[in-house]
Amino acid sequence: MVPELEKATVHMKNPEHVQRVISALRKEGTDKLQVISDFDMTLSRFGFNGRRCPTSHNILDNSRVISEEGRKKLKDLLHYYYPIEIDPNRTMEEKRPLMVEWWTRAHDVLLQQKILKSDIAKIVRESEVMLRDGVNTFFDQLHQHNIPLFIFSAGVGDVLEEVLRQAEVFYPNINVVSNYMDFDDKGVLRQFKGPLIHTYNKNNAVLKKTEHFQLLSSRTNVLLLGDSMGDLSMADGVANVENILTIGFLNDKVDERRGKYRDAYDIVLEKDETLDVVNGILCYIL
Ligand code: TMP
Ligand code: MG
Repeated sequence: MVPELEKATVHMKNPEHVQRVISALRKEGTDKLQVISDFDMTLSRFGFNGRRCPTSHNILDNSRVISEEGRKKLKDLLHYYYPIEIDPNRTMEEKRPLMVEWWTRAHDVLLQQKILKSDIAKIVRESEVMLRDGVNTFFDQLHQHNIPLFIFSAGVGDVLEEVLRQAEVFYPNINVVSNYMDFDDKGVLRQFKGPLIHTYNKNNAVLKKTEHFQLLSSRTNVLLLGDSMGDLSMADGVANVENILTIGFLNDKVDERRGKYRDAYDIVLEKDETLDVVNGILCYIL
Protein backbone atom coordinates (compact mmCIF):
# COMPACT_ATOMS: atom_id res chain seq x y z
CA MET A 1 0.00 0.00 0.00
CA VAL A 2 2.97 2.32 0.55
CA PRO A 3 5.63 1.51 -2.07
CA GLU A 4 8.23 3.66 -0.27
CA LEU A 5 8.31 1.08 2.53
CA GLU A 6 10.20 -1.20 0.11
CA LYS A 7 13.19 1.17 0.12
CA ALA A 8 16.46 -0.41 1.20
CA THR A 9 16.81 2.14 4.01
CA VAL A 10 13.60 0.93 5.73
CA HIS A 11 13.74 -1.49 8.65
CA MET A 12 10.77 -2.68 10.68
CA LYS A 13 10.76 -5.08 13.57
CA ASN A 14 7.06 -5.75 13.15
CA PRO A 15 5.82 -4.94 9.62
CA GLU A 16 2.33 -6.27 10.39
CA HIS A 17 1.95 -3.78 13.22
CA VAL A 18 3.08 -0.97 10.91
CA GLN A 19 0.54 -2.04 8.29
CA ARG A 20 -2.23 -2.16 10.90
CA VAL A 21 -1.45 1.34 12.23
CA ILE A 22 -1.17 2.85 8.74
CA SER A 23 -4.54 1.30 7.81
CA ALA A 24 -6.11 2.73 10.97
CA LEU A 25 -4.67 6.21 10.31
CA ARG A 26 -6.10 6.12 6.79
CA LYS A 27 -9.49 4.81 7.88
CA GLU A 28 -9.96 7.39 10.64
CA GLY A 29 -9.05 10.29 8.42
CA THR A 30 -7.39 13.66 8.59
CA ASP A 31 -9.57 15.07 11.41
CA LYS A 32 -8.04 12.70 13.93
CA LEU A 33 -4.40 13.04 12.91
CA GLN A 34 -1.60 15.18 14.31
CA VAL A 35 2.09 15.07 13.48
CA ILE A 36 4.80 15.56 16.09
CA SER A 37 8.35 16.01 14.86
CA ASP A 38 11.83 16.72 16.06
CA PHE A 39 13.74 19.34 14.05
CA ASP A 40 17.53 18.87 13.96
CA MET A 41 18.64 15.85 11.97
CA THR A 42 14.99 14.82 11.47
CA LEU A 43 13.53 17.59 9.32
CA SER A 44 17.00 18.93 8.61
CA ARG A 45 19.65 16.85 6.87
CA PHE A 46 22.35 15.02 8.76
CA GLY A 47 24.87 15.12 5.94
CA PHE A 48 25.46 16.11 2.35
CA ASN A 49 28.28 14.94 0.09
CA GLY A 50 30.04 13.30 3.00
CA ARG A 51 29.93 16.42 5.20
CA ARG A 52 27.86 16.99 8.30
CA CYS A 53 25.09 19.56 8.03
CA PRO A 54 24.64 21.98 10.93
CA THR A 55 22.08 21.74 13.72
CA SER A 56 20.27 24.93 14.72
CA HIS A 57 22.92 25.43 17.43
CA ASN A 58 25.72 24.83 14.91
CA ILE A 59 24.23 27.48 12.61
CA LEU A 60 24.99 30.01 15.33
CA ASP A 61 28.28 28.37 16.39
CA ASN A 62 29.73 28.54 12.86
CA SER A 63 28.57 32.06 12.14
CA ARG A 64 30.66 35.21 11.98
CA VAL A 65 29.01 36.70 15.05
CA ILE A 66 30.83 34.21 17.31
CA SER A 67 34.39 35.04 18.32
CA GLU A 68 37.25 32.70 17.49
CA GLU A 69 37.51 31.77 21.15
CA GLY A 70 33.77 31.20 21.48
CA ARG A 71 33.76 28.99 18.41
CA LYS A 72 36.55 26.86 19.83
CA LYS A 73 34.72 26.45 23.14
CA LEU A 74 31.52 25.41 21.37
CA LYS A 75 33.40 22.93 19.19
CA ASP A 76 35.11 21.42 22.24
CA LEU A 77 31.76 21.06 23.97
CA LEU A 78 30.30 19.35 20.89
CA HIS A 79 33.22 16.92 20.66
CA TYR A 80 32.94 16.06 24.33
CA TYR A 81 29.16 15.78 24.74
CA TYR A 82 27.83 14.59 21.36
CA PRO A 83 29.38 11.09 21.70
CA ILE A 84 27.68 10.89 25.09
CA GLU A 85 24.35 11.98 23.61
CA ILE A 86 24.36 9.11 21.10
CA ASP A 87 26.14 6.47 23.22
CA PRO A 88 24.00 3.31 23.12
CA ASN A 89 25.72 1.95 26.21
CA ARG A 90 24.57 4.66 28.62
CA THR A 91 21.04 4.99 29.95
CA MET A 92 18.96 8.13 29.54
CA GLU A 93 19.16 8.62 33.30
CA GLU A 94 22.96 8.74 33.05
CA LYS A 95 22.83 11.09 30.08
CA ARG A 96 20.28 13.56 31.41
CA PRO A 97 22.51 15.57 33.80
CA LEU A 98 25.29 15.61 31.21
CA MET A 99 22.94 17.02 28.58
CA VAL A 100 21.85 19.76 31.01
CA GLU A 101 25.56 20.50 31.45
CA TRP A 102 26.15 20.66 27.67
CA TRP A 103 23.19 22.94 26.95
CA THR A 104 23.97 25.19 29.91
CA ARG A 105 27.63 25.58 28.98
CA ALA A 106 26.87 26.11 25.28
CA HIS A 107 24.18 28.69 26.04
CA ASP A 108 26.58 30.48 28.40
CA VAL A 109 29.09 30.81 25.57
CA LEU A 110 26.39 32.11 23.21
CA LEU A 111 25.29 34.66 25.82
CA GLN A 112 28.80 36.14 25.86
CA GLN A 113 28.64 36.90 22.14
CA LYS A 114 26.23 39.85 21.90
CA ILE A 115 24.10 38.16 19.27
CA LEU A 116 21.58 40.54 17.71
CA LYS A 117 18.02 39.51 16.92
CA SER A 118 18.39 41.38 13.65
CA ASP A 119 21.37 39.15 12.70
CA ILE A 120 19.49 35.84 12.84
CA ALA A 121 18.10 35.96 9.30
CA LYS A 122 21.54 36.70 7.84
CA ILE A 123 23.20 34.03 9.98
CA VAL A 124 20.73 31.44 8.68
CA ARG A 125 21.04 32.64 5.08
CA GLU A 126 24.83 32.34 5.20
CA SER A 127 24.80 28.93 6.90
CA GLU A 128 25.10 25.47 5.34
CA VAL A 129 21.82 24.23 6.79
CA MET A 130 19.81 21.92 4.54
CA LEU A 131 16.39 20.41 5.02
CA ARG A 132 15.78 16.81 3.95
CA ASP A 133 14.82 16.03 0.38
CA GLY A 134 11.04 16.03 0.03
CA VAL A 135 10.53 18.62 2.71
CA ASN A 136 8.25 20.78 0.54
CA THR A 137 5.90 17.89 -0.17
CA PHE A 138 5.83 17.10 3.55
CA PHE A 139 4.94 20.61 4.70
CA ASP A 140 2.54 21.20 1.79
CA GLN A 141 0.57 18.00 2.43
CA LEU A 142 0.09 18.79 6.11
CA HIS A 143 -0.81 22.41 5.38
CA GLN A 144 -3.31 21.53 2.65
CA HIS A 145 -5.09 19.04 4.90
CA ASN A 146 -4.99 21.30 7.97
CA ILE A 147 -3.08 18.76 10.01
CA PRO A 148 -1.34 20.28 13.02
CA LEU A 149 2.42 19.86 13.01
CA PHE A 150 4.07 20.19 16.39
CA ILE A 151 7.82 20.73 16.16
CA PHE A 152 9.42 19.84 19.48
CA SER A 153 13.07 20.78 19.41
CA ALA A 154 15.97 20.97 21.80
CA GLY A 155 17.59 23.28 19.26
CA VAL A 156 17.25 27.06 19.10
CA GLY A 157 13.68 28.12 18.31
CA ASP A 158 14.51 31.50 16.74
CA VAL A 159 16.98 29.84 14.39
CA LEU A 160 14.84 26.90 13.35
CA GLU A 161 11.84 29.15 12.71
CA GLU A 162 14.03 31.27 10.46
CA VAL A 163 15.19 28.16 8.58
CA LEU A 164 11.54 27.25 7.94
CA ARG A 165 10.69 30.83 6.97
CA GLN A 166 13.52 31.00 4.44
CA ALA A 167 12.44 27.63 3.02
CA GLU A 168 8.93 29.15 2.71
CA VAL A 169 7.31 26.31 4.63
CA PHE A 170 6.46 28.01 7.93
CA TYR A 171 2.71 27.58 7.61
CA PRO A 172 0.06 28.44 10.22
CA ASN A 173 -0.58 24.76 11.04
CA ILE A 174 2.88 24.63 12.65
CA ASN A 175 3.54 25.07 16.36
CA VAL A 176 7.08 25.10 17.73
CA VAL A 177 8.27 24.40 21.24
CA SER A 178 12.00 24.90 21.57
CA ASN A 179 14.68 26.95 23.32
CA TYR A 180 13.88 30.54 22.46
CA MET A 181 16.20 33.47 22.87
CA ASP A 182 15.28 36.48 24.95
CA PHE A 183 16.59 39.81 23.65
CA ASP A 184 16.92 43.07 25.59
CA ASP A 185 15.37 46.31 24.34
CA LYS A 186 18.40 46.94 22.14
CA GLY A 187 17.84 43.57 20.46
CA VAL A 188 20.87 41.91 22.08
CA LEU A 189 20.64 38.31 23.33
CA ARG A 190 20.46 38.40 27.13
CA GLN A 191 19.19 34.93 28.09
CA PHE A 192 17.33 31.88 26.94
CA LYS A 193 13.70 31.57 27.92
CA GLY A 194 13.02 28.55 30.11
CA PRO A 195 12.46 25.74 30.67
CA LEU A 196 15.60 24.35 29.09
CA ILE A 197 14.86 21.64 26.55
CA HIS A 198 17.58 19.08 25.85
CA THR A 199 17.57 15.74 24.03
CA TYR A 200 16.28 13.71 26.97
CA ASN A 201 13.54 15.84 28.52
CA LYS A 202 11.30 16.23 25.48
CA ASN A 203 8.14 15.31 27.29
CA ASN A 204 5.24 16.67 29.26
CA ALA A 205 7.53 18.10 31.95
CA VAL A 206 8.67 20.97 29.71
CA LEU A 207 5.23 21.41 28.13
CA LYS A 208 3.30 22.16 31.31
CA LYS A 209 2.68 25.74 30.34
CA THR A 210 1.51 25.05 26.83
CA GLU A 211 -2.07 24.14 26.24
CA HIS A 212 -1.12 22.86 22.82
CA PHE A 213 -2.14 19.24 23.26
CA GLN A 214 -5.36 20.08 25.12
CA LEU A 215 -6.52 22.07 22.11
CA LEU A 216 -5.93 19.02 19.97
CA SER A 217 -7.71 16.52 22.21
CA SER A 218 -9.80 15.13 19.35
CA ARG A 219 -6.65 14.26 17.41
CA THR A 220 -5.89 10.90 18.94
CA ASN A 221 -3.84 9.53 16.04
CA VAL A 222 -0.18 10.49 15.98
CA LEU A 223 2.63 10.30 13.48
CA LEU A 224 5.89 10.88 15.36
CA LEU A 225 9.23 11.64 13.68
CA GLY A 226 12.58 11.73 15.43
CA ASP A 227 16.25 10.86 15.26
CA SER A 228 17.09 10.34 18.91
CA MET A 229 15.86 7.86 21.49
CA GLY A 230 14.79 10.94 23.45
CA ASP A 231 12.33 11.91 20.73
CA LEU A 232 10.09 8.95 21.54
CA SER A 233 8.61 10.76 24.54
CA MET A 234 7.51 13.80 22.52
CA ALA A 235 3.91 12.52 22.33
CA ASP A 236 3.63 11.78 26.06
CA GLY A 237 1.44 14.85 26.52
CA VAL A 238 -1.19 13.65 24.05
CA ALA A 239 -4.21 12.37 25.97
CA ASN A 240 -5.93 9.19 24.79
CA VAL A 241 -3.62 8.20 21.97
CA GLU A 242 -5.44 5.63 19.87
CA ASN A 243 -2.92 4.95 17.14
CA ILE A 244 0.69 6.05 16.98
CA LEU A 245 3.27 5.38 14.30
CA THR A 246 6.85 6.25 15.18
CA ILE A 247 9.51 6.80 12.52
CA GLY A 248 13.14 7.11 13.55
CA PHE A 249 16.01 8.38 11.43
CA LEU A 250 19.15 6.46 12.30
CA ASN A 251 21.82 8.81 11.00
CA ASP A 252 24.99 8.06 12.91
CA LYS A 253 26.70 5.07 14.61
CA VAL A 254 24.30 2.91 12.65
CA ASP A 255 25.78 -0.51 13.43
CA GLU A 256 26.05 0.17 17.15
CA ARG A 257 22.55 1.58 17.51
CA ARG A 258 20.55 -0.54 15.03
CA GLY A 259 19.20 -2.99 17.63
CA LYS A 260 17.94 -0.34 20.05
CA TYR A 261 16.35 1.73 17.28
CA ARG A 262 14.54 -1.25 15.79
CA ASP A 263 13.20 -2.18 19.22
CA ALA A 264 12.04 1.36 19.92
CA TYR A 265 10.76 2.82 16.63
CA ASP A 266 8.08 1.20 14.44
CA ILE A 267 9.98 2.20 11.30
CA VAL A 268 13.73 2.86 11.28
CA LEU A 269 15.27 4.71 8.34
CA GLU A 270 18.96 4.00 8.13
CA LYS A 271 21.09 6.68 6.50
CA ASP A 272 18.12 8.03 4.58
CA GLU A 273 18.41 11.78 3.92
CA THR A 274 14.91 12.01 2.45
CA LEU A 275 11.35 12.31 3.70
CA ASP A 276 10.23 9.85 0.98
CA VAL A 277 8.90 7.25 3.40
CA VAL A 278 7.07 9.83 5.52
CA ASN A 279 5.61 11.43 2.39
CA GLY A 280 4.59 8.02 1.01
CA ILE A 281 2.72 7.22 4.21
CA LEU A 282 1.05 10.66 4.29
CA CYS A 283 0.06 10.34 0.63
CA TYR A 284 -1.61 7.00 1.42
CA ILE A 285 -3.45 8.11 4.55
CA LEU A 286 -4.57 11.60 3.49
P1 TMP B 1 16.71 18.65 18.20
O1 TMP B 1 15.91 18.34 19.43
O2 TMP B 1 15.97 19.60 17.29
O3 TMP B 1 17.17 17.45 17.48
O4 TMP B 1 18.02 19.49 18.68
C1 TMP B 1 18.97 18.99 19.54
C2 TMP B 1 20.28 18.72 18.90
O5 TMP B 1 21.15 19.85 19.04
C3 TMP B 1 20.98 17.60 19.60
O6 TMP B 1 21.00 16.44 18.82
C4 TMP B 1 22.39 18.11 19.87
C5 TMP B 1 22.47 19.41 19.15
N1 TMP B 1 23.30 20.43 19.83
C6 TMP B 1 24.33 21.02 19.10
O7 TMP B 1 24.54 20.68 17.94
N2 TMP B 1 25.10 21.98 19.70
C7 TMP B 1 24.90 22.39 20.99
O8 TMP B 1 25.61 23.26 21.49
C8 TMP B 1 23.84 21.77 21.73
C9 TMP B 1 23.59 22.18 23.13
C10 TMP B 1 23.06 20.82 21.10
MG1 MG C 1 17.22 15.70 16.43
